Amino acid sequence: MVSPQLLTHQPPPPRRSRLRTDRHQKLVALLVLLASIGGCVSRLGRLEPLPAEVLRSTPARLARGAYLVEHVTVCLDCHSQRDWDTYSAPIVIGTEGRGGEVFDGRYGVPGVVYGTNITPAGLAEWTDDELLRAVTTGVNREGDVLFPVMPYRNYRHLTQGDAAAIASYVRTLPPIDHAVPPRQLNFFVEFLIRSFAIDGVRLAPSVGEGGVRDEAEQIRQGQYLTQLANCGDCHTPRDLAGTPEPGRLMAGGIKFTLPQGTAWAANITPDQDTGIGRWTQEAFVARFKSFTGPRSPAGRVDVDRRNTPMPWTMYAGMTESDLEAIYVYLQQVPAVRNQVAAFAPDPEPAVTLRSAAEERSVEP
Ligand code: HEC
Ligand code: HEC
Repeated sequence: MVSPQLLTHQPPPPRRSRLRTDRHQKLVALLVLLASIGGCVSRLGRLEPLPAEVLRSTPARLARGAYLVEHVTVCLDCHSQRDWDTYSAPIVIGTEGRGGEVFDGRYGVPGVVYGTNITPAGLAEWTDDELLRAVTTGVNREGDVLFPVMPYRNYRHLTQGDAAAIASYVRTLPPIDHAVPPRQLNFFVEFLIRSFAIDGVRLAPSVGEGGVRDEAEQIRQGQYLTQLANCGDCHTPRDLAGTPEPGRLMAGGIKFTLPQGTAWAANITPDQDTGIGRWTQEAFVARFKSFTGPRSPAGRVDVDRRNTPMPWTMYAGMTESDLEAIYVYLQQVPAVRNQVAAFAPDPEPAVTLRSAAEERSVEP
């Protein structure tokens, strides 16, 4: 028989106070953590201002900006609408910069983020400093930290001249009024990505226009371009926080769920059997250049039902010497043996990646 005393039994006083102390300590620790993260965030995202002379828009700078934005940093790839019914999903003409591309679970995003409107209609109030701060530190005008699908961790390596060139070109995009829905991330992810913002970015001064003089310089140039072109974002396996897996640089295997089936990023290390070790420089450049002109594989997706998320048609506009530098850089990263699966068509037609506009138009 249980005594009424036991039923109403309370934990003895010493234990109770220890419990309270534990809870109290946890609460204090949480508050300290929140305060310190809050403190970090308020200090985050500082970008050393560029000299006014560097920011001045000149015809040469605009041309360089157009080249980078359309063919190297491929800003327009994510900030326009892509045509997923066409091989390599080129951007839909007339949507340049207006935003709306959807990044969700199919890209490993724990929620939904949208490419934003970066035409002058979307960035009307932004100064050049604010634009470059978002691009290189990941902190936008409102002080929010951008989801790292936006490759600010690569763009922080931009030289001053290239950053200024990008800003001046983005300003000249035809303005398009197009509202993009706010991102949807759960509280913990919203919280976690604050730690991804970069503080105290100082862009390197631009180097002279002397051209590439020796192989070491060509490798450096190739590494810079590979970073700006976000090749590693798709080709290097990463953990959930986006940290590259050690020893797997460019080893491929990352999975993409596309309307036509599943694609895996290729192994582009110089491994002879499973990578691109047997590719000549000519073959490498030619593969990119094959996406220009009337014989381009872009547009053939209905024929063989394959697709790829790699924006080949945009990269195809890179100069041969830039593609050569990328090749030379990739040929000297450590070879990794990793056999990557070929494209796997879905047994049934998959749901298509919808643009934000389409998503809104199906709402009642
Ligand atoms: C791989 C895709 C991708 C590429 C490439 C990319 N962006 Fe973004 N960008 C995004 C996404 C997605 C967001 C929204 C992130 C979020 O909501 O957290 C974003 C956000 C931004 C913002 C913040 C807008 C706002 O209203 O807060 C700016 C500015 C921006 N990008 C400019 C650029 C520029 C300039 C480039 C090229 C140098 C570029 N982006 C390249 C995907 C990309
Ligand atoms: C959005 C993701 C994405 C980006 C960004 C990307 N790739 Fe790819 N890449 C892929 C996928 C997926 C494949 C496999 C399907 C295909 O051939 O397109 C691939 C294939 C390749 C191949 C063909 C390899 C083979 O064995 O056939 C090469 C070469 C390549 N990528 C190089 C690059 C370089 C260099 C960059 C940067 C300039 C880059 N990729 C950027 C996703 C990407």
